[in-house]
Amino acid sequence: MDLSKKSITPFLKWAGGKRQLLHEICPRIPSFKGRYIEPFMGGAAVFFRVAPKNSWLNDINEELVNCFCVVRDKIDLLVERLSKYYYDKEFYYQMRALDRQEGGLSNLDEIERAARFIFLNRSGFNGLYRVNSQGHFNVPFGRYKNPDIVMEKKLLACHDQMQNAKITQRHFRDILSKVEGEDFVYLDPPYPPLNASSNFTSYDKDGFGDEEQAELAEFLHYFNRKNIKFLASNASHPLVFDLYKGLTIIEIKAKRSINSNPEGRNPISELLISNGIIV
Ligand SMILES: C[S@@+](CC[C@H](N)C(=O)[O-])C[C@H]1O[C@@H](n2cnc3c(N)ncnc32)[C@H](O)[C@@H]1O
Repeated sequence: MDLSKKSITPFLKWAGGKRQLLHEICPRIPSFKGRYIEPFMGGAAVFFRVAPKNSWLNDINEELVNCFCVVRDKIDLLVERLSKYYYDKEFYYQMRALDRQEGGLSNLDEIERAARFIFLNRSGFNGLYRVNSQGHFNVPFGRYKNPDIVMEKKLLACHDQMQNAKITQRHFRDILSKVEGEDFVYLDPPYPPLNASSNFTSYDKDGFGDEEQAELAEFLHYFNRKNIKFLASNASHPLVFDLYKGLTIIEIKAKRSINSNPEGRNPISELLISNGIIV
């Protein structure tokens, strides 16, 4: 993998996004002949840096996946629609409220839904994506100086990079059960909360609890037995050390940029887990 060339940066800000950690993660990705697979893509920071030729991106978030598909397939129409959006508090809350109204989102076509998603991401507090238990997006308006909502150049670069990517919206188990021998999988699941107040990232109304962490770990132990290459990020948490006993685990320092508690912006440790020797 050539990390020297100037890479594309993600078009979305994403809670738990790996932008700040690319220098730790990417050099540890082994060479591979098969597909590059990300079952928890989020903003897909690692994918945009690695720039693989043959890839499969997935996430459970329907609006996120729709947005990625529109950037890949209908970029011109998307840029045109986005240019009608503007940074304004009242307009933000009006667009945010659509998922609370009967038919509010389903009345929009896929391009308008993608434009709304990017607009909320560019204008909402810290680019956070958070939903309540009914699945309603509930991030407050963010304060920025002239945010670039359209980002045409960046969107075009991402569009180019995504041309050979398969993009799906499924549960991670449906992806991991289809991984094959020569593939490489990078996994960045939601993390177990380090304390009660740090559980701010409800990416999905169903949440991601200990059972999902355990199911994921079982897949990775299986990959280890089958010599399938993978690298997984996770929190430096007793549950994670326990679930991944027997695999290679290293600790790296992460600077959290999305956190409602300003004290939480200090660097914290997180883990990289693999079945190879990682240094
Ligand atoms: C930590 S984020 C990934 C961040 C990403 N690496 C980046 O750089 O932006 C975790 C992602 O997992 C997704 N997710 C949560 N539960 C899932 C599930 N059961 N199956 C697939 N994806 C899931 C969330 O929607 C979220 O986007």
